[in-house]
Amino acid sequence: MTDCLPLQYDGAAFKKPRSHPSMTPRGSMSSRNTIRTIHQRYADDTPITMVTCYDYTFARLVEKADLDIILVGDSLGNVIQGQDTTVPVEVDDIIYHTRAVVRGTETTHIVADLPFMSYQASEEEGLRNAGRLLKEGHAQAVKLEGGRSIAPMVDRMTDAGIPVVGHLGLTPQSVHAFGGYSVQGRGDDAADELLEDARALADAGIYMLVLEMVPAALARRVTDELSIPTIGIGAGDQTSGQVLVLQDLLGMNTDFQPRFVKRFVELESTIVDALNDYGDEVRSGAFPDDDHAY
Ligand code: KIV
Repeated sequence: MTDCLPLQYDGAAFKKPRSHPSMTPRGSMSSRNTIRTIHQRYADDTPITMVTCYDYTFARLVEKADLDIILVGDSLGNVIQGQDTTVPVEVDDIIYHTRAVVRGTETTHIVADLPFMSYQASEEEGLRNAGRLLKEGHAQAVKLEGGRSIAPMVDRMTDAGIPVVGHLGLTPQSVHAFGGYSVQGRGDDAADELLEDARALADAGIYMLVLEMVPAALARRVTDELSIPTIGIGAGDQTSGQVLVLQDLLGMNTDFQPRFVKRFVELESTIVDALNDYGDEVRSGAFPDDDHAY
């Protein structure tokens, strides 16, 4: 029993360790990374690697790579659905994509986003939708945006055995309230507010916190203060790990180039070139040749 208990950290974060499903002493968990794996990386000071993913084919490739976590993000609204914002994304969309990602992976830890208005109206609704992401989507954890105001709901989720990831800084579901996508937490007051939010979420039992587009110094302050891992996107190099949108890091949309995105390959041109080669060969009659015919 003892070795099923989670790691404990100074000052911290695990308010209710027994309620986390990845720690159950009964039954066999799959070989997936669990929140314990993630916290072990944190304890070992090994940077945590996270990437978004939304479908089976890419999930297979992420699984072959050596990354810790897939986030089935509501960024699928932009990347997959072609929407201007994440606002229109529905819980059913996230469930559909999470199921596909789970089918393509064996060991990667899977976090699914609670989309806009799936948890803002009431705690009950948030709790039920979080449960749906685990029961129907087969995610291992949920992520939601917001600070002190959602801490009581996070508390209920963690009580119910749902591992929760927080998300502070630029929270894209509030794009209309922000009036655009800009760096958050600038200035002493805004930084103090964000720190208060982070503390409240940690007290409510989140096991990890995403920090999006905040000054590197603030991300470092939050990381130093909390006893759970922080994952940065546009938050500098002092967080416990990093996350990027898969299609961004693969260079599949060269029209989208915020400062925090690094393209590790230029797949847009590679893919367009391959498609053009295919078109040219079909038009010239070079494809299909005898090697590709029965
Ligand atoms: O939806 C998403 O992709 C995200 C990441 C950018 C953190 O929330």
